[in-house]
Amino acid sequence: MSEIVYLNGDFIPEEQALVSVEDRGMLFADGVYEVARAYGGRFFLLDQHLERMQESARLVRLPLPSAAELRAAMQGVLQRNRMADASVYLSVTRGHAGPRSHVLPTEAHPTVFAAARPTPVPDPRSIQEGAAAISVPDRRWHMCHVKSIGLLLNTLAKQAAVEAGAQEALFVRDGVLTEGSATNAFVVLNGQIWTHPSGPHILSGITRDVLIEICQRDGIPLRQEGVLLSQLYAAQEVFVSGTNTEVLPIVRVDGRTIGEGRPGAVARRLLDALHRYVATSIQ
Ligand code: PDD
Repeated sequence: MSEIVYLNGDFIPEEQALVSVEDRGMLFADGVYEVARAYGGRFFLLDQHLERMQESARLVRLPLPSAAELRAAMQGVLQRNRMADASVYLSVTRGHAGPRSHVLPTEAHPTVFAAARPTPVPDPRSIQEGAAAISVPDRRWHMCHVKSIGLLLNTLAKQAAVEAGAQEALFVRDGVLTEGSATNAFVVLNGQIWTHPSGPHILSGITRDVLIEICQRDGIPLRQEGVLLSQLYAAQEVFVSGTNTEVLPIVRVDGRTIGEGRPGAVARRLLDALHRYVATSIQ
């Protein structure tokens, strides 16, 4: 049975979901997206994902359909594919607007697409033993807080990581760690957690927000400040967070061992706390 996806108001088999070659998503990567996670048939923090999409869209002047329609699309693909645990993708592009033009169309015909897919979770060994990462220069634009479908530099960074036998790439801008190719990054230095401040150089992750909330709640010292790559190499722990990744310990960066070369106590504690947070918030 083929997968059912949502496209512009219809739930249809994936192979029938066709978009114009003149879609501005195709021509200009003119669109925004979200990835939200469902556990046991219920979404985790879907409102926060929809709010972030609204903010992304506002920043690039993209008129969005109502939150109710977007929510129904995401819930619909989950239910129609009878999935309980899934990673649900939602994108809205500025749609088909006639011949290619850099000028924004006056009338909006957005293309709305949603699909539910098995969650690409990290492999259990890297959670257990820790994962490897490489650092890459952050040459992305200065609007990384927009969850734009224009992800070419993120994909090239991830590909470089995979080709180096690593699981994630960590972006470094002006010597400072910003985030991962599809994750936010955290560094434990002198018993304190450091993570890059929100702003135009990172995507402010929903998982990152939850981890910050947990740290505040549990009195775990956390600073939203940048860390130099040289400091990262000497850190006690490094870990990354994301909707699909949850919390993943990083035990090697650029071939150098981080801390004791195995997942640290802070990452383990936060992963456990995140699981408990998920369990209570999806009830
Ligand atoms: N990516 N930073 C970047 C660049 C990301 O692409 C993501 C998520 C995150 C973490 O955000 P959150 O905790 O809200 O998932 C940070 C999604 C999962 C993706 O592109 O598939």
